[in-house]
Amino acid sequence: MSEPSAVLPNVTMIAAVGRNGVIGDGLGMPWHLPEDLRFFKRTTMGHPMVMGRRTFDSMGALPGRRSVVVTRRRDWSAPGVEVAHSLPEALDLVSGAEQVFVVGGGEIYRQAMRYAARLLVTEVDLSPAGSVTFPEIDPSVWVETARDARDGFAWVTWERRA
Ligand SMILES: NC(=O)c1ccc[n+]([C@@H]2O[C@H](COP(=O)([O-])OP(=O)(O)OC[C@H]3O[C@@H](n4cnc5c(N)ncnc54)[C@H](OP(=O)(O)O)[C@@H]3O)[C@@H](O)[C@H]2O)c1
Repeated sequence: MSEPSAVLPNVTMIAAVGRNGVIGDGLGMPWHLPEDLRFFKRTTMGHPMVMGRRTFDSMGALPGRRSVVVTRRRDWSAPGVEVAHSLPEALDLVSGAEQVFVVGGGEIYRQAMRYAARLLVTEVDLSPAGSVTFPEIDPSVWVETARDARDGFAWVTWERRA
């Protein structure tokens, strides 16, 4: 795996991932975990979020957080969100923030992996059907630094190795 020259210390990816790597079916999430949704809300609240246009379509604009939506469509817009036409452009828009959360989906996680300094992964004890997956977490690049096991899932923190 080629390593980036452009890791951004303020960029965290946050995702809920099944045992089989699945994060969704392209339209929505494959589970309903209210406790994890509350974790997502309190973790991201007050910080900018970067997301792909399909993820925006699935969840809309979330209150209290600046949302930057990445799309290739030059004519796309939606109320309450900022638009970027590439991931670097999106990250540039929020570069002054102390903490930025990349919130999916699969296409955007894959492209953001090289910039992220931290991963907050909810490991869900399910292997649902679905075509959208989280990228592989390479243990030569990432080290697990915290694990909080709950009923049916675990909150796991990964930090990029020095
Ligand atoms: N489990 C979780 O934590 C979690 C989190 C988030 C999402 N999800 C799930 O993930 C699925 C959506 O993921 P996805 O992979 O299908 O889509 P996505 O990553 O949310 O969005 C893909 C879209 O982003 C835009 N895009 C991607 N790369 C781009 C680039 N380099 N430049 C400009 N625009 C770019 C394109 O939008 P245009 O087509 O408009 O050009 C593309 O169609 C859903 O099922 C959702 O529920 C799960």
